[in-house]
Formats: sequence, C-alpha cells, structure tokens
Amino acid sequence: MTADQEKKQAALEAVKYIKDNMVVGLGTGSTAKHMIEAVGKLVADGMNLTCVPSSDATEKLAKQLGIKIVALDEIKKIDITIDGADEFDGDFQLIKGGGGALLREKILAWNTKYNIIIADSSKDVKKLGAFKLPVEVIPFATKQIVSFLEDEGLQPVQRMKGNDPYRTDENNNIIDIDILEVDDLKALEIKLLKVPGIVETGLFLDTTSLIIVGKEGGPETKER
Ligand code: A5P
Repeated sequence: MTADQEKKQAALEAVKYIKDNMVVGLGTGSTAKHMIEAVGKLVADGMNLTCVPSSDATEKLAKQLGIKIVALDEIKKIDITIDGADEFDGDFQLIKGGGGALLREKILAWNTKYNIIIADSSKDVKKLGAFKLPVEVIPFATKQIVSFLEDEGLQPVQRMKGNDPYRTDENNNIIDIDILEVDDLKALEIKLLKVPGIVETGLFLDTTSLIIVGKEGGPETKER
C-alpha cells in the first residue's frame, strides 16, 4: 500500500464517525484532503453538515465540493474535527503544522468535543521529533525569537517560500525547531508560549481522542 492509499483508507474510516446535523471541523493537508472529499460525498448524498475549516485551502476545497462552511464564531462547539498529523506517539501526542495551518488547527481542536487524527503508518513514531516542530511567530519578533531558540539549542530554521519568509493564513512566520533531544514536551510548550511573539506551537499534547492509521489489511483505530 502506498502512503497515499493509507491516508485515504484512514480518511474513509474516520468519516464513519460523522452523523447527520453535526458540526464538523475540517483539517488541512494531504490526508485531510481525502477526508474533505469524503465529507463532500456525504453532503451530496443528503447529510446535513455544518463545517468549520482550519485553513483557506481547506475552505476553498470544501466550498468547491458544496460543503456548508461557517466561521468558528458562528457556532458554539464543534462535534468532531478530523485532521492529519506530521507525527504521533503512543501517548496521543502530535506534531502538526508541516502545512503551516497549526494555529487555526489548534484553535479548532481546542473547541472540539471529539478530535480524530488520520494518518498513514509513517507518522507513527516512538518519540516525537524526527519531524521539525513548527512554531508560529509574529513577524515583528521573528529575528529575536530565532536568536532565543538558538540559545536554547533548538536549531531554529525560519521557513521560507522561495526567497521570502513563509506566511501563514494569519500572516505570521514559521520557525521550525529540532526537539528530538527534548524529553519534557509539556515544559517545552510552556516555555515557548511564554515568549512574547510566539503565537503557537505545533505540539498537540492532549487534544486527540482517536487516531486512525491506514494499514495493509485495514485501518487501525487507537482510542485514548
Ligand atoms: C497542516 O498544517 C498540518 O498540521 C497537517 O495536518 C499535517 O502537516 C499533516 O499533513 P499531511 O496530511 O499532508 O501529511
């Protein structure tokens, strides 16, 4: 099975959790794309769903598929959010934000009753950190924060798009850092979020309820 087939298999399994009249959070990325297409089919088949997108790209795709989109402030709570991940470990901790949507994704996850992560099997790791952790920062403070992260030994690299600094949907920059040597992720998260100008990190430590992994022979569902 290719990674993309695993992603699609996980996505198709995850949409089985969606029921009529739910408010659904739509993640971002290549795995989430399969899920959004499957949600589009549910809607085309007559299911009444209201969806909240986690990025401009997701919003665009959802609208093309005829999915009803609302802003987060138009609803009280999201019933289910289905999103991808760059890495997950045995404690349901994630690294997200490879696609740059970590801030809105984390806001959606926090405002959701039941968060489902869908992934191909390569995302399943013993320890988070082979994938660099994205940190979203305000452009005004980017240089100073890079310097702080260097002093912390986290080997920061500012994300670029061609010759220009990468900009998120919220018009911020991203700095990718190396956390492979970090054991206490909660302490790291607290330390980073105390720095003025750091808006959010791609560490999702305690929001996930279910992880569905695409696998040869059928999807594996891990419940917290
Ligand atoms: C978007 O910013 C990310 O958090 C994605 O959810 C994550 O990078 C997984 O992306 P893929 O599904 O494309 O691997």
